[in-house]
Amino acid sequence: MVTVTRIIDSKTEDLRALRSQVRAEYEGFRARKLALDMTRGKPSPEQLDLANALLALPGERDFFSQAKEDVRNYGGLQGLAEARALFAPMLGVTPDRIVIGNNASLAMMNDCIVWALLKGVPGGTAPWSQTPQPAFLCPVPGYDRHFMITEEYGFRLIPVPLNGNGPDMDKVEELAADPAVKGIWCIPKYSNPTGEIYSPETSQRLAAMRTGAPDFRIFWDNAYTVHHLTPRRHEVANILELCEKAENPDRAFVFASTSKVTFAGAGLAFFASSAANVRWYLGLAGKRTIGPDKVNQLRHVRFLKNEDGLLRHMDAHRALIAPKFDATIAALEARLGGTGVAKWTKPEGGYFISVDVVDGTARRIVELAKEAGVAITPAGATWPHGRDPYDRTLRLAPTYPSLGDVRAASEVVALCILLAAVEKQCESQEKKAAHES
Ligand SMILES: Cc1ncc(COP(=O)(O)O)c(C=O)c1O
Repeated sequence: MVTVTRIIDSKTEDLRALRSQVRAEYEGFRARKLALDMTRGKPSPEQLDLANALLALPGERDFFSQAKEDVRNYGGLQGLAEARALFAPMLGVTPDRIVIGNNASLAMMNDCIVWALLKGVPGGTAPWSQTPQPAFLCPVPGYDRHFMITEEYGFRLIPVPLNGNGPDMDKVEELAADPAVKGIWCIPKYSNPTGEIYSPETSQRLAAMRTGAPDFRIFWDNAYTVHHLTPRRHEVANILELCEKAENPDRAFVFASTSKVTFAGAGLAFFASSAANVRWYLGLAGKRTIGPDKVNQLRHVRFLKNEDGLLRHMDAHRALIAPKFDATIAALEARLGGTGVAKWTKPEGGYFISVDVVDGTARRIVELAKEAGVAITPAGATWPHGRDPYDRTLRLAPTYPSLGDVRAASEVVALCILLAAVEKQCESQEKKAAHES
């Protein structure tokens, strides 16, 4: 492996030599015709296997809930009482404030956006669609599928930088003063992709800030709330309580799911909020469906049993995936440590590592990696409309491939980051020299 120190300070001849060396190494990887994929944050087959007991539950004999409902039949719009009781602590609410949906919290978020546009939300005077050019705040880098929902329904997407403790709250407060700004996407714990954890102050300011829109909503997507990568189980503030205390009781919609607890395609999704918002949600959901899949709810209860069962299950996930995060970080450290060409996160939970590379090189890196047989998330995906104005952020998703593949893929990505940086630096020095001569 070529050893490099800060390349930005290197002389042109040294850089050219380095470029040749790194290119040669890159060609070596290309010749290996790898076929590796670090694009999407999916659980690996081994992680899914942890929940295989679900496949035999609830069994042919006992498909009745504690309240003696036959879970095979219609009804039970809000979800089984025992399932709500099991997941209430995970969302920080009482069981009467949760609605259990089917397998995708994204679908619940999508419903909330569409219903807000067509019908309005509690506290509003009109449906959001009657606001000319409604807008949504999008902390960046963020989750592409959040941005896609609000893009699809015609919101103006306003990026707001994340600062390590959540979004830049001075900016958020300034922007939220505009009555056209209807909400903000938040991933408060182990954020996708930066892994950051919102500070208590950020949460407090979100709950209490003055908003131009009386019906402003925080979409608090706590997708990774129990997805720890270290023994420390981080906590974030209880946004619903904070909103209530700040006399904005209906401001937050909370979402979560078991997609990365049990089965990504067959888990349970949750909506939690104030009493008024839960009534609103159920009123509209009741037109859309006669009831959710309660067989799945019952088998989740029988499988996970209680909060302790849930936490132990998540420990088993951690044992499988923490080494993959370590391997990725080790590869980045080994190749790029001290070079000054990249900064990466060391998340303590969640599913992603975010890497900031030399501005203007992220797309080139994705291309180079693809050529070498490693698929990574398209550059720009973490920004609204898929456009990163700095062409800077890469999102790595180490959970799905095997540990061996993660090691190999991370090595290639790190090399591509270096190659793109050296190429760029060489080019700019060559241009400068041509200009001066
Ligand atoms: C922040 C965040 N929210 C939601 C989801 C998807 O959740 P679900 O499977 O419940 O729709 C993901 C998946 O990657 C995610 O990263």
